Amino acid sequence: MAPMRALTIGLLVALAGCSQSYTIDGVDPVDPTDPVDPTDPVDPGHLTPPPISGGHMELVHGGAFAIIADPDRDRLHVADLDRDTVRTILLEPGDEPGRVVEDTAGRVHVALRRGGAVVSLNADTFAIQRRRVVCANPRGIAHDPATDEVLVACAGGSLARMGAGGGAPSLTFIEHDLRDVIVSGDRTYVTTFRSAELIRVDAGGIVDRRAPRVDTHFMFQPEGEFEGTFLPNVAWRTRPDGAGGAWMLHQASMTETVNVTMEGYSLSDLECETGLIPVSLTHFPADGAPTTRRFKSAGLAVDFTVSSLGFFVAMPSEITEPGGGERSPIIPEPGSVFIAFSQWEDTGNPCLRSTQREFVGDEITAVAMNGGQFLGWDRLEARVRRSGESDLRAVGQPTVDDPGHELFHVGTFAQMACATCHPEGREDGHTWDFSDVVRRTQTLTGGILGTEPFHWSGDQADMRAIMDETFTRRMSAPLLDDEGITQVGTWLDTLPEVASPARDHAAAARGEDAFVSEGCVDCHAGPRFTDNRSVDVGTGGAFQVPSLLGLAVRGPWLHDGCAESLGEALAGCDGAPHGGVADAAVRADLVAYLETL
Ligand code: HEC
Ligand code: HEC
Repeated sequence: MAPMRALTIGLLVALAGCSQSYTIDGVDPVDPTDPVDPTDPVDPGHLTPPPISGGHMELVHGGAFAIIADPDRDRLHVADLDRDTVRTILLEPGDEPGRVVEDTAGRVHVALRRGGAVVSLNADTFAIQRRRVVCANPRGIAHDPATDEVLVACAGGSLARMGAGGGAPSLTFIEHDLRDVIVSGDRTYVTTFRSAELIRVDAGGIVDRRAPRVDTHFMFQPEGEFEGTFLPNVAWRTRPDGAGGAWMLHQASMTETVNVTMEGYSLSDLECETGLIPVSLTHFPADGAPTTRRFKSAGLAVDFTVSSLGFFVAMPSEITEPGGGERSPIIPEPGSVFIAFSQWEDTGNPCLRSTQREFVGDEITAVAMNGGQFLGWDRLEARVRRSGESDLRAVGQPTVDDPGHELFHVGTFAQMACATCHPEGREDGHTWDFSDVVRRTQTLTGGILGTEPFHWSGDQADMRAIMDETFTRRMSAPLLDDEGITQVGTWLDTLPEVASPARDHAAAARGEDAFVSEGCVDCHAGPRFTDNRSVDVGTGGAFQVPSLLGLAVRGPWLHDGCAESLGEALAGCDGAPHGGVADAAVRADLVAYLETL
């Protein structure tokens, strides 16, 4: 039996002349009298959705409108919250719009994650006013009222600044793998995605950097309890606290040994009942030590908002109970959770429990709070859900349901999804201690089908082996049939790697030549820079030749994460240069080249 969503969505399209209506199985039919913008695209087809990135909705004009960047459909939706209408604006196919910000003049700016640009909308009509190319992978976006500039954090490592009203961007390299940029009080911060750092920047560059503290707490496993150490990582979303500090929604990964046995990933934290990778919220005051709380029973949490009422967290999926039989379908329980704010300062309790659940059953990937009302974007049904009020549906939208995407993001009984360790299909930057081996998580971007066998030692023959071993055995999820396995593999194979710019073009050009002349191509061959063999290059055994695509943003490097920099990876952690390149200057050129792959 194929894995299925609790709610199977089928889109039946009936086109008659230029009027359209369609029904969604199991959901109220769309009211044909719903206001439809006449320019609305009418092409309900099926699109392959990108991985969930979260946090792509903002309230603008004092809460009168919600602007939703729809990364699944390459569209923007303008929800008029007073008139209850939704208007859709088409972007280019593959743009993958993400973060949204409003400037002080009421213009709206949207970062296009794959489109490599920022689109700016007119303050009155929300029509697209201009599109500016910024960098390969824009992520965070902010407006600095002091300079009236739009700031864009690029995953490749640059921070771009450009006039809110127009003008070309100027870019400064800060650090690879940037995520958010925020302006809080008179301070500007960027964050790094996988290492979850909050980096304060000014016109001169980096001022200082902070990270959530390393946490220790007791964990339970059948053999007994032990104290676990948790390294903060994967900062999905960071927001200003308005007083010079910031809130960060992130994960943390355990450094102690994880048994790769049956249900091995299902350890439990005694205090908060969180798992191996607690979903955490950290407050960084402008000055002083950060404080962190863990969410009880969280799956994957990708967005949050905060107000005097509390936190509202987007968890596109929560925990899946293991099915009764071996082949029982997965029943995801997606939904968002509201957490009471008062728990933060008052009790000092490290655990955050949901006191109110909203929009259970939906895949909410972006949230906002409008006064006392919660808003959540339900990605599958293209609607803004509102507490205490009817939904606002964007009509005429292509469906984006994808079983492979679903399986990758579903929260399992182990309180994690594949996307927890492989955020956005990448990797968590964590080096895991698995019983008898130490293994840095591998990225799944750049195309994985055809690079079998999998894992550093090549011990997993194919996707079937990965899903049986990781999903079913370690993560305690039901066994998948062939169709489900194929769906995961096919979807994963669509994920592009994150590109980084050349920082020194001359050195990168020399490095490209050296890559061939030094014989790197003997193993790192072809478009993915791997010949898929397992080779002993003196690092402690035979390991799969890794693909080098997206290399710059996936440190630490080598199978055991021993190299903190690419230079170190080539110099060799134990001093024997990788690929036999003894000349440090040639290695520096190679690094300049490798960073651009
Ligand atoms: C606890 C963290 C964790 C979770 C959860 C996890 N992975 Fe991984 N993944 C890893 C690590 C670590 C490796 C490298 C393991 C090794 O080499 O032994 C890896 C490797 C892989 C690879 C091999 C890539 C290659 O190029 O060889 C694939 C494919 C993969 N994971 C897919 C998945 C899927 C699908 C899921 C969900 C069913 C998943 N992973 C869940 C940590 C995780
Ligand atoms: C004989 C085959 C072979 C040759 C030649 C070779 N490599 Fe590798 N390379 C590997 C293997 C195997 C690994 C993984 C080793 C490990 O993780 O312990 C690796 C790892 C790497 C990594 C780290 C990737 C990661 O994801 O952590 C980089 C970077 C790299 N090689 C670059 C190069 C460059 C540059 C050259 C040429 C100077 C080169 N390699 C030559 C086989 C080779």
